[in-house]
Amino acid sequence: MAFSLGPRATSAGYRLAAFDSIGSTNAEALVRARAGERGPCWFVTTEQTAGRGRRQRTWIAQRGNLASSILEVLDVAPAVAATLGFAAGLALEAALQTVSLEARMRSPDSEDMTFGLKWPNDVLAGRKKLAGILLEAEAVADDRLAVVVGIGTNVVAAPERTPTPAVSLAALGVQISAEELFSALSDAWVEFLGIWDNGRGFAEIRKLRLERACGLGERVAINTGTMTLEGIFDTIDDTGCLIVRTVDGRRLPVAAGEVFFGSAASVGAA
Ligand code: BTN
Repeated sequence: MAFSLGPRATSAGYRLAAFDSIGSTNAEALVRARAGERGPCWFVTTEQTAGRGRRQRTWIAQRGNLASSILEVLDVAPAVAATLGFAAGLALEAALQTVSLEARMRSPDSEDMTFGLKWPNDVLAGRKKLAGILLEAEAVADDRLAVVVGIGTNVVAAPERTPTPAVSLAALGVQISAEELFSALSDAWVEFLGIWDNGRGFAEIRKLRLERACGLGERVAINTGTMTLEGIFDTIDDTGCLIVRTVDGRRLPVAAGEVFFGSAASVGAA
């Protein structure tokens, strides 16, 4: 099956560059942006050989998983562009709800099939990681920003021994292809990019995001790279920071880090 855009993405003027195999769809999108590509354009494949993850990790995915990056060239400040990742998480979650409808109807009470978003933008099924998002941005001409949102989804297989246990759609009983998921994702992207509205709609995105937040009000440990913060996941603020309430009652904003549910003991592998 070949990749194709959904009807909504096609009408909205999106373009598609599909590859049998490529190093990284994010890297390709940025190379094209430097060469003058102004999007909006999707870069997709079912095989990446040098996939990039958050926090300088590699993103390892078996052939058949979906690696997709959207390039949007925007007239927004970098701090505003950073909030686009939340719209991406919502779009992906919506697409996953669409493609898994049959499987969810077969097991309506299954917690494994409950999708949620772990801050900042991992999609979890149950408490296992199903997809990850990496946002990268670079200034291009006319003071505009080339924003690349890379979305990797475990369609046929999930990696093992990851800091957060991972799962695939296939393991959940959702028998769809990367190409089918991509079509739904490209349409959902148009919807949530419209709500985000160059950052003006972040209040609505934040509200939708909080409704789908995993671990809200629960004990979390956050590895920021330099330290581990422990407390209660209080909210996501209007800049996209996670607010953690510590045992001494402080409310600390966290701009970047990896969240673990439970106490600091679970951060060991991070
Ligand atoms: C994470 O670490 O959770 C984010 C992973 C993002 C992976 C995707 S796959 C498509 C795009 N191309 C890349 O090289 N990375 C992103």
